[in-house]
Amino acid sequence: MYRALYRTWRPQTFSDVVGQQHVTNTLQNELKANKLAHAYLFTGSRGTGKTSCAKILSKAVNCENLQDGNPCNECEVCRGIDSGAILDVVEIDAASNNGVDNIRDLRDEANYTPVRAKYRVYIIDEVHMLSVGAFNALLKTLEEPPEHVKFILATTEVHKLPATILSRCQRFDFKRIEPQDIAGRLNFVAEREGFALENEAASLIAKIADGGMRDALSLLDQCASQSKNVTADLVSNVAGLTGHDHLFLLADCIKNNDCAKALSVINDLHNSSCDMERLCTQLIDHYRNLMIIRSVKQPEGLIVCTAAELKQLETQAMSYTLEHIMHILGVLEVTCGNLRKGLNRRVETEMAFVRLCTPNLDSSVDALLKRVAAVETAVRTGAVAVQQPVVSQPSAEENAPAQPAAPAPKTLPDGELGCWTDVIQELKTFNLPLASMMFNTYAVVKDGVVNICHNSAFLVGKFKDEESRKDLKKAFYNITGTDCLMKFKKIAEPANIPEPEPIPHETDPLADLLSRAQASGIDISSN
Ligand SMILES: Nc1ncnc2c1ncn2[C@@H]1O[C@H](COP(=O)(O)OP(=O)(O)OP(=O)(O)O)[C@@H](O)[C@H]1O
Ligand SMILES: [Mg+2]
Ligand SMILES: [Zn+2]
Repeated sequence: MYRALYRTWRPQTFSDVVGQQHVTNTLQNELKANKLAHAYLFTGSRGTGKTSCAKILSKAVNCENLQDGNPCNECEVCRGIDSGAILDVVEIDAASNNGVDNIRDLRDEANYTPVRAKYRVYIIDEVHMLSVGAFNALLKTLEEPPEHVKFILATTEVHKLPATILSRCQRFDFKRIEPQDIAGRLNFVAEREGFALENEAASLIAKIADGGMRDALSLLDQCASQSKNVTADLVSNVAGLTGHDHLFLLADCIKNNDCAKALSVINDLHNSSCDMERLCTQLIDHYRNLMIIRSVKQPEGLIVCTAAELKQLETQAMSYTLEHIMHILGVLEVTCGNLRKGLNRRVETEMAFVRLCTPNLDSSVDALLKRVAAVETAVRTGAVAVQQPVVSQPSAEENAPAQPAAPAPKTLPDGELGCWTDVIQELKTFNLPLASMMFNTYAVVKDGVVNICHNSAFLVGKFKDEESRKDLKKAFYNITGTDCLMKFKKIAEPANIPEPEPIPHETDPLADLLSRAQASGIDISSN
């Protein structure tokens, strides 16, 4: 019968245990000095060696031929414990023996001297599962156990143990095992088992296992059952890391505000029975990866993927700002929450994408604040009075029928141009690449000349190009109705937006806004 790799390769001595030197060294020293506690508590996350160390310790305290604090695994006692012939070492699974009676039986039995070994050892695994009564029953024995008894308690959930139990045990915290330690052990096992394990495959498994050796060995096992040559590709197939093309595709759609494409991709996914909640969590993972890449110099350790995929992620991350990524993550988190509430999954997902691909629809506080700021600047600089076409704020014209639409003036007022973002939005409709490079720019009008301020060396070259300049002028004309002379100014980073003319502070800002609007000829009284 096939035996799982992780069981075959359970460490048999402390020296075999990987990555828990702070535990194994201490135990070996105690054993060598014969200064043993009567109760031990092993805690830490899954598959990090607690049960293994408990088993090793139970042999070591009884071994007739202790070797540098390790059990010899050859003497009669060691072999008897391993084969189960010696009954003085008892393993109890507290998950299924959690009652008071189980512990009372244990207590009664513990009074008898061991039959063959030096100590009776009780390994109580998953000890947090004991009932309150069982804990109390255990407490007494734990406090004053007979000379010939040792307890080893193990649990992943130490916070569930009563303080009275904790204070009676010598406690060891098992750490998540470092990826390189896991990879080392995997190589060792693969070599003994006679299969080839690529270095990249080993470190990928180690990353996926997230500190747990059992999971690592299980994954290796699964891979090896498919091929004796374990490659990184095989690992990512078996672990389900492949097939992320749709995530890259959707992220590109969001980046390019390509709503139609995004919806069609979602339609395809839906038709191929892709679960929308899973899609949403995958996307969150995807954007989390992009966030990590944008925030950390060496992201490799924090991202689970193949080297090839990391390259692809890095390229995509560079096309985003960190703020944009954070914003998308926020929207996706909310969507995921809604999906869990059981709302119409497809519609929820589509709504999220329409929102993400259409920044103008974004009603988040951040986005609104930005837009309010733009309107305020427009009013302050007077741009709102002169530009009627695109900023579709019907109130001004519609509510004031007496006012003819303001004619496009031939010159623009001096100061920062409030409708600059609209110019760029307009540009986006026919020259997306240029527009997307210009999001951090701003424009200041001085004596009828539009000074476009930017801090990108790349744009310097772009502006030398006739086509680009023509497109920009066209967008500018469509929005402002004027055809101004344009100058390009490269300014030092960061782009400092010049302070607009100070508004006298004694006035109420709202009143000030109104009076300025009135001064520009907009009738607001009928509103
Ligand atoms: N530190 C380690 N060094 C080497 N192998 C390990 C280590 N930890 C775990 N393993 C491997 O994982 C398997 C399971 O380990 P073990 O049962 O000791 O984990 P555990 O900490 O008790 O996990 P759980 O909390 O799930 O009970 C072992 O058989 C062994 O193959
Ligand atoms: Mg265990
Ligand atoms: Zn021995």
